[in-house]
Amino acid sequence: MGEALVSCLFTDFHLAPIVYNGVILIIFFYVMTMTQDELKLAVAQAAIAYVVEGEIIGVGTGSTANFFIDELAKIKHKIKGAVASSETTANRLRAHGIAVFDLNDVSSMPVYIDGADEITASGAMIKGGGAALTREKIVASVAQSFVCIADGSKLVDLLGAFPLPVEVIPMARESVIRALNAIGGEARLRMKDGAALLTDNGNIIVDVHGLHIADPVALEARINNIVGVVTVGLFAAQGANVCLLGTADGVKTLQF
Ligand code: 5RP
Repeated sequence: MGEALVSCLFTDFHLAPIVYNGVILIIFFYVMTMTQDELKLAVAQAAIAYVVEGEIIGVGTGSTANFFIDELAKIKHKIKGAVASSETTANRLRAHGIAVFDLNDVSSMPVYIDGADEITASGAMIKGGGAALTREKIVASVAQSFVCIADGSKLVDLLGAFPLPVEVIPMARESVIRALNAIGGEARLRMKDGAALLTDNGNIIVDVHGLHIADPVALEARINNIVGVVTVGLFAAQGANVCLLGTADGVKTLQF
C-alpha cells in the first residue's frame, strides 16, 4: 500500500515521494489554485450583478475596488455615474470615462461596493488599509446597501489581527496615540516615504496593533469619541449588507 511521505510546493506543482511495495516513486502533480488577484477579480465580476441600471453607484478604494472599477467600465453606458471614496478611485473612474459625482449632489444611491481588510461572519469590518476610511464611511452612509468584495483571506472570527486604522487631526496626534494605547493596543503613526502619510483630507493615520475586538460596535463608538479622531476604520454600527467572498470553491455570498 502506498504512503505519501512529503509534499513540496513548487508554485502550482507538487512533488510527492511515494513508497510502493518498498520502492520509492517520485510523482508530480498539478494543483489548480487561484491567486489572491484572481479571487479579487472573481468577486469584482460577481459584484456587477449588484449594480443598478440608470443609477449612481458608490465605489470604494483599494486593489479589489480597482478590479471592480475595471469591470464597471465594461457596463458604464448602463449607469449614470459614480461617487468615489478617494482621489485615486476618482482618477481611475474618470480614466475609464465614468462620470464622477460630488457626494453633495447625490441624495441617495442604491449600492456602495468596496473591499475590506477584515470581515466577520456578521458583516463587521476593518477598513482603511488604503487610508481612505473616512470618505469610504461617508459614501457608504449615503448608500442603501454596502456590498463588500473580498478574497477569502479577509474572513476572520475576531477583528484585530489587521492593525486598526484611525484617521486623526494632525495636532491631536500624541493625545490620540495616548488614548488609543490606553485601550490596550499599540498605536503607531503610519509613515510613507519617511514622513507621516497624509490622507485625501490632509489628516494622519494611526494604526492600532494587537487588538482583539470582541465588541466592534462598542469599540467603534469609543474610538470615534476620542477628541481629535476623525474616523475609526471599524465599520460595525453600519457594516456590510452583503459580502461576496472569493474562495477556491467559487464566489460565496454572505448576507447580513
Ligand atoms: C482602503 C480600504 C480597502 O478596502 C481595504 O484596505 C482592502 O484593500 P484591498 O482590496 O487592496 O485588499 O479600506 O482604505
